[in-house]
Amino acid sequence: MLQAPDTTVTVVDDLSMGSVNNIPQSDRVTFIQHTITDHEFMSQLVIENKFDYYVLLAAIASVADSVERPYETHQVNQEANLNIIETLRREKLPFKKLFFSSSAAVYGQLPEMPKREDQAVQPLTQYAVDKYATERAIINYGRLYDMPMVCARFFNVYGPKQNPASPYSGVLSIMLDCLTNDKPFSFFGDGSQTRDFVYVGDVVNAIRGLLQTPAARNDVFNIANGKQTSLMTVAKQLESLTGKKLNASFKPGRSGDIHDSFADASKINALGFMTHTPLEDGLAKYVASV
Ligand code: UD1
Repeated sequence: MLQAPDTTVTVVDDLSMGSVNNIPQSDRVTFIQHTITDHEFMSQLVIENKFDYYVLLAAIASVADSVERPYETHQVNQEANLNIIETLRREKLPFKKLFFSSSAAVYGQLPEMPKREDQAVQPLTQYAVDKYATERAIINYGRLYDMPMVCARFFNVYGPKQNPASPYSGVLSIMLDCLTNDKPFSFFGDGSQTRDFVYVGDVVNAIRGLLQTPAARNDVFNIANGKQTSLMTVAKQLESLTGKKLNASFKPGRSGDIHDSFADASKINALGFMTHTPLEDGLAKYVASV
């Protein structure tokens, strides 16, 4: 967003998962350290600023974390977002587009692969339930109240600036941290589970494209690379890029975990702006950044 001249950005983050160092230092960026679950505060912010675009990314971002904190997940991942769209509706505030980050987790363990947006869903954890419910609410608000909304289901995002510090961080950030700092790594299960790893730069391009494309309205799009890779395969790729051997052990699978996930990205590809960084190139950039 900041690439557009004269654009100003307001970021709200309680830093419970992210880092202040990832927020660009610029006089066009206002950073507010606050929880999005403070409804009065968030409503006031929206009413006072009348933003052109809303990008709803704040979340308890881990499936496993949501299994430990189901109610808090609901408050952050659903209620806080509902408060924002309800404020926009109630106050009749004009805006250009609202983007919500839903998740591949909504597809659950259903066997159809690759995952297409029109397939059945099976939300198996509170994380997936809240992502799906919020996605539906946003699309329904768009349809019922003529508001410009768009949702995307993120697959497994990786790349520079991802925080490896929490046990609930994305698997690639943990793996790379273990490799570079000679720490032990645990596979939950046998490492045969597969994911569709999508480079963070491609996700940013996709969000920008969805905000700026009028045809992408009141609809949901997969944001993915469209390739299926097992944890074991990606571990080998990281080993070869770092020249180090992963000190790995195997633990029981995580509760709520999905075994396989990969996307059909043709719906977003048809809009013409989606980029697909090959996994080996994205991993090389990631390794070079640490
Ligand atoms: C991830 C995202 C979630 C997103 C979803 C979309 C994170 C933290 N979560 O969930 O926001 O909605 O993709 O599909 O990025 N694993 C290990 N060892 C570890 C850590 C993880 O073996 O130390 C395994 C997990 O059990 C899982 C796989 O790696 O099978 C991926 O886990 P994780 O990176 O947490 O992502 P998802 O659960 O797929």
